[in-house]
Amino acid sequence: MTHISRRTFLTGVAALGGTAFLPRMTFADTALPVLRAAPSTAQLAPAGYRATPVWAYATKGAGIIPGPEIRVTAGERIRHQLVNDLPQPTAVHWHGIRIENAMDGAAPLTQAPVPPGETFDYDFLAPDPGTYWYHSHDRGFEQVARGLAGPLIVEDREPWLGEPGAATRELTLVLDDWLLEGDAAIVEDRWDDLHAAAHDGRMGNTVTVNGRAYPDLDMRPGERVRLRIINTATARVMPLALPGLSPRLMALDGHPVPPRAVETILLGPAQRADVVIDMPLDPDVQIALLLDPGNEEWVDVAAFVATGEPLAPIEGEVRPLPAWSTLPVPDLSDPRREVLLMEGGAMRGMLETRYQGEVMDFRELASNGMAWAFNGVAHGMDAPMFRAALGRTVHLEMTNRSMFPHAIHLHGHHFEVLTRSGALNTPGDVRDTVLIGADETLEIAFVADNPGQWMLHCHMLSHQEAGMMGWFEVA
Ligand code: C2O
Ligand code: CU
Repeated sequence: MTHISRRTFLTGVAALGGTAFLPRMTFADTALPVLRAAPSTAQLAPAGYRATPVWAYATKGAGIIPGPEIRVTAGERIRHQLVNDLPQPTAVHWHGIRIENAMDGAAPLTQAPVPPGETFDYDFLAPDPGTYWYHSHDRGFEQVARGLAGPLIVEDREPWLGEPGAATRELTLVLDDWLLEGDAAIVEDRWDDLHAAAHDGRMGNTVTVNGRAYPDLDMRPGERVRLRIINTATARVMPLALPGLSPRLMALDGHPVPPRAVETILLGPAQRADVVIDMPLDPDVQIALLLDPGNEEWVDVAAFVATGEPLAPIEGEVRPLPAWSTLPVPDLSDPRREVLLMEGGAMRGMLETRYQGEVMDFRELASNGMAWAFNGVAHGMDAPMFRAALGRTVHLEMTNRSMFPHAIHLHGHHFEVLTRSGALNTPGDVRDTVLIGADETLEIAFVADNPGQWMLHCHMLSHQEAGMMGWFEVA
């Protein structure tokens, strides 16, 4: 398998670390459309602050924050040649796509990381409609925090926009959280700060919506809009509220739910929600998108601003999103039972933890940068956590014995959340990433129908790096 090809004219240039000497890319001389990862700048902070040096994706020109929106219809292929013009190896993961294993981008498990100056061809089917995203999957705690993330939208085959009761427009909202200095530069020196990793991760201080702090989002009075909201932050759990816009929840992690009015929407890192809002008819109104930074004092992160002629409001019930069910239904009569025990972090610690084949105490683990474990193993990349026969239903009981929430993500599969702390969950709660609170137990189930080696990790990316990472095998 030779997906990597060397572009000798670039070798060594990125290693200089500067952006000024990179030759101009040509985007025409390759069979696949290019997705280039490279240093760039972005105006994250409001006008008056300087632009922030970032690492970003581009399909043409300079890299942008968030990365360019990739949009296909369910059943179509996504094809991109990753061109690595970063000073580090990298790989792209297509989060939530039930992809073929070799295209999953989970370096170093499913592919070797792509060295600076080299390329990798991604070519895969996007089987399921929904709101997804793509991001770096090598040193994610640094590369995603520097900006390497973008939206990936898989449209339904059936029409929805413009149908009776549906929205007339959709708007992707990529939310992120940056740790910035006073001059809007990214804080550089705390990438693997073990203190942060042992708490709630590398938390930022600036929330952006579509790459901008406090943006104004232009809306027509009276219009009904489908928001595709994506939390790309590496650590921040985002409780969101849209008072005054009658938000109705439509889908979670790409899976439609029966539309229901919601006051708040809780998105852990990597989770997505589709929400329909109705802009009031008042022509001068401005309505805030609110976020709770953790103390129940909601702050504005963006404003929906009415401009232009009012549209006739859409009356009646919201039209549900088209149901899709290419997902196999778990057979719970005789599943393969597995457990996932999460331990570690500040205030609780962990006992008898294995790291790279040796049993270590808390102090030795810390000196190796480890603060977390799955089933008594920190950063367990040597052997799978479990194996499942192709087609078998896996029932996974996950228990969080730490003092912090985690956002657990399984690659290559979507799972149903069956119970939360012993109580039955709403049926049909299907996800690829689930938040699990301190001392909570969740039971999930999925059909292991996708052969290969699949990562399972916390999407608080400094937790992942500090030990909350493993994989399972389907064969
Ligand atoms: Cu979105 Cu393994 O990641
Ligand atoms: Cu975590």
